[in-house]
Amino acid sequence: MDHATQVELIHRIQEHLRTGTTHMEAEESRIPVECYLRADRLEAERELLFQRRPLLVAHSSQLAEPGDYLTHDASGLPLLVCRTASGEPAAFLNVCRHRGTRLVEEEHGRRKHAFVCPYHAWTYDTEGRLRSVPHEEGFPSRPSESVGLARVSVAERFGFLWAQGRKDSRFAADAFLAPIATELASYGLEKHVVYRPQRLELRLNWKIAIEIFLEAYHFRHAHRTSIYPLFIDNVGLIDRLAPHIRCVYPKRTLRDLAGTPEETWQLREHANILYFVFPNTLMLVQSDHINIITVFPLDIDRTDFHSVTLIPEAPTSEKALRHWDKNVDLVLNVMQEDSRLGESIQRGLRSGANASLRLARFEHGLRYFHEAVDQALGSRG
Ligand code: FES
Ligand SMILES: [Fe+2]
Repeated sequence: MDHATQVELIHRIQEHLRTGTTHMEAEESRIPVECYLRADRLEAERELLFQRRPLLVAHSSQLAEPGDYLTHDASGLPLLVCRTASGEPAAFLNVCRHRGTRLVEEEHGRRKHAFVCPYHAWTYDTEGRLRSVPHEEGFPSRPSESVGLARVSVAERFGFLWAQGRKDSRFAADAFLAPIATELASYGLEKHVVYRPQRLELRLNWKIAIEIFLEAYHFRHAHRTSIYPLFIDNVGLIDRLAPHIRCVYPKRTLRDLAGTPEETWQLREHANILYFVFPNTLMLVQSDHINIITVFPLDIDRTDFHSVTLIPEAPTSEKALRHWDKNVDLVLNVMQEDSRLGESIQRGLRSGANASLRLARFEHGLRYFHEAVDQALGSRG
């Protein structure tokens, strides 16, 4: 984020602190509970949000060298993502073109020159070209001359690989990421490395897993002894960078900036900056590291929750390890506090107590999120 924007955001927070207010809208709003419960809606979300749009599938450092690869199934489509011999990213449907066996079983691997189907050993290179077919005399159509893995679109931007599972969709990663591109580029995410990836299954609708991050109203009570002592009660800036959202949650130390030279202000030292990248990614920028969370629906009430910590360099000392472990443990603890409450919401949804859920004027981040989802479901991407 450029310095002028940091200063502007700090001024906005200072004004809220001065007047005892927070960023909010004129009116309350509501979310109908049926949006978390309807199976037909989940099917539409899966296809229109998770398969026809660029999704973050890996950090660039996870496919560092030619031949590095990973499989990704969380969007509902089996993807094989790799780095080709020339170092470019490539992504395919992980399905053999002979009789459709899953080509690669393992979650990830290094420096592969070829992918060999476990059934009859059709062999593909990292570009997806079919390189060898045992007993090809049985195929007068000569598949090795014309067949390749089904390609899907992939782009490498801001240190991440963004893939889109459906072949018949427009892929426009740059246009899609444009509203947050300058800010994402400013963090040098491509120079970071992944530390302690985690994967959890949560018993809640995927949208509840996103909502958890989009307001500061709950900090004081839900995180009373964990992170609330660092933050200010119910003060946040929630701005739409449609379809994405940027939240800024100030820490108590931000009060100390008053009277200090603006040129020295660094927002991330005094606030957590959270980017919600539509439809399923959260990037939590902390003072010296960044948490990346991606969520995927497993079912209407089950969510695959992936989290990684991006740190500036691989730890080389015990002290560094302890520092990063402490940070990761803290975040996992806070996420557990959040997910327990999210699961509690899910359990009550069918009770009939609420036909809709009520959002405060300062919970407008949730409204922005649901509006973006509704808009995407209304359009064929
Ligand atoms: S199904 Fe892959 S080689 Fe036969
Ligand atoms: Fe929380």
